[in-house]
Amino acid sequence: MLPGGDLASGGVSLASLRQKWGSPLHVVLAEQLRRNVREFLAINEGGRIRGEVFYSYKSNPIPGVLRVLHDLGIGAEVISEYELWLALKLGVPADRIVFNGPAKSLASVRNAVARDILLLNINHREEIDVVVSVARELNRRPSIGVRVATSGGWTGQFGLPAGTGEAFAALKEVHESGILELAAIHCHVGGMVRSRQHVQSYVGEVLALADRVKTELGVELAILDFGGSLATPTVTNITDFDRKVAMAFQAPLPVPQPDASLGIPEYVRCVVEQVENHYAAQKRPCPRIFFEPGRAMTGNTQVLVASVLSLKAGEPKPGWAILDAGINLAESARSEFHQIFPASRMHEPRSCQYRLAGPICSPGDVISWSASLPELAAGDALAIMDAGAYFVPFATSFSFPQPPVVMLDGAVVKLLRRAESFEDIIALDEFDCRPPD
Ligand SMILES: Cc1ncc(COP(=O)(O)O)c(C=O)c1O
Repeated sequence: MLPGGDLASGGVSLASLRQKWGSPLHVVLAEQLRRNVREFLAINEGGRIRGEVFYSYKSNPIPGVLRVLHDLGIGAEVISEYELWLALKLGVPADRIVFNGPAKSLASVRNAVARDILLLNINHREEIDVVVSVARELNRRPSIGVRVATSGGWTGQFGLPAGTGEAFAALKEVHESGILELAAIHCHVGGMVRSRQHVQSYVGEVLALADRVKTELGVELAILDFGGSLATPTVTNITDFDRKVAMAFQAPLPVPQPDASLGIPEYVRCVVEQVENHYAAQKRPCPRIFFEPGRAMTGNTQVLVASVLSLKAGEPKPGWAILDAGINLAESARSEFHQIFPASRMHEPRSCQYRLAGPICSPGDVISWSASLPELAAGDALAIMDAGAYFVPFATSFSFPQPPVVMLDGAVVKLLRRAESFEDIIALDEFDCRPPD
C-alpha cells in the first residue's frame, strides 16, 4: 500500500493502472505467482524431487500466466482437447502433461496417446475400453491412472469410489488389459481443503488402495496423483446461513482466518511426508508424488479492479453500489467470500455495509450482500481480491465485453490479454443470413 492509502504493488497503484487501462481490469501479480511456485517446489530443495506440480489449466488458462508457470518448471494438467492443444502450443513437453476429466473426446485421447503424454487418468470404467482401442490402433502402451473418489470428496460423474472395490476393479482391468501401463491412482477431492486432518484422511485412503494394488496385483504404482483443492486462505464458501443473515440484516460476512488454513509449503510437506513415511515403513520404493493445484497456485495472484458506476440508496442504509463488474466477471463470488477493498482510501474506516451489484440486469448479479467499505462515491475503484482462479475462465460477455488482463511485474506492466471489442463479440456470427427471396 502506498502512504496515501492506494493499493499498490511494486510501487504501481491499482488506481494508476485503472487510469491507463480502464475499468474493469484484471491485474496479475507476477511476484506473487512466482512466490507460489517457489512454495510448491520448496519440498525439492537439495535437488531431490519429492513432489511434482502440474497446474490445473481450467482454473486460469491465460497463456501469459501459464508461460510464467511453465518457465519455472510447472507442468500442465488438462481436461479437454483444447487445453491439451494449448499446452502443446505453449511448448510443454508431452512428458509434463497430465490428462484428466470425465469428458475426453476420442480425438483428444488419440492425440494424448500418440504423443506419449506423461499420464492419462481414467475417470470411469467405460473409458478403459476407449483407451485400449486407441492404444491398439496406435500401437502404444500409455501410462494410465484411475481417478478415485475418497470419503466426503467429489463423487457423481467423477472417479470411482476408493472404498467399495470399484476403483480396485478398474485398476485391475487396466493392468490386465495387456496394453495399458497401470501407473497411478489419481485423487482430486474437490472443494477447499484447509486442514492437515483432511489431507491425511484422503491420502490415507489412497495409500490403502495402493497397498491393495501391490498385494493383489503385484504392481508397485509409479505415481500417486493428489489433484488440487488446496484452499486460498482468504477465500471461503459462503454458507446459506451467512448469506441469509447478510441479505436480511446486512451483517458482514465472516472473514476467513488465513492462519486457519494450511499454507502451500505445509500442505505439500504433509502429503509428501505421509507418503514417504508409509513406503519407508514397508521398505518399498516411494512413487512419484503429483499435485495439480488450481486455486492455490493462482487464486491470490490476481485482482479484479472494478469501479462504482452509481449508488442507489436503499434500506438498510447505505444501500447499493452498482459496479461495472459483477458475476459476469466474478462468477465465483456468488458462492465464495472474496475480500473487497477500496483501491484507494485504504486508511479510511470501512464503516458502511454496501450491497454490491454488477451491471448485467439480473437479480442474481450481486457480488456481495454486505461489503465493509468506506462511504463510496461514483467513480471509486474497488479491488476484488483473489481473482486468479475461476474468474477469467468462467467469465461471460453478457452485454459487456471482457476487460483486458495486465501483468504487474515489479514496476513493469505487460498486457497479457487485450480487452474484447464489440466486434470480437460478433466475430463468429453470420450477418447476411436472411433466407433467399
Ligand atoms: C482433476 C482436477 N485437478 C485439479 C483441479 C484444480 O482444483 P483446485 O482449483 O481446487 O486446486 C481440478 C478442479 O476442479 C480438477 O478437477
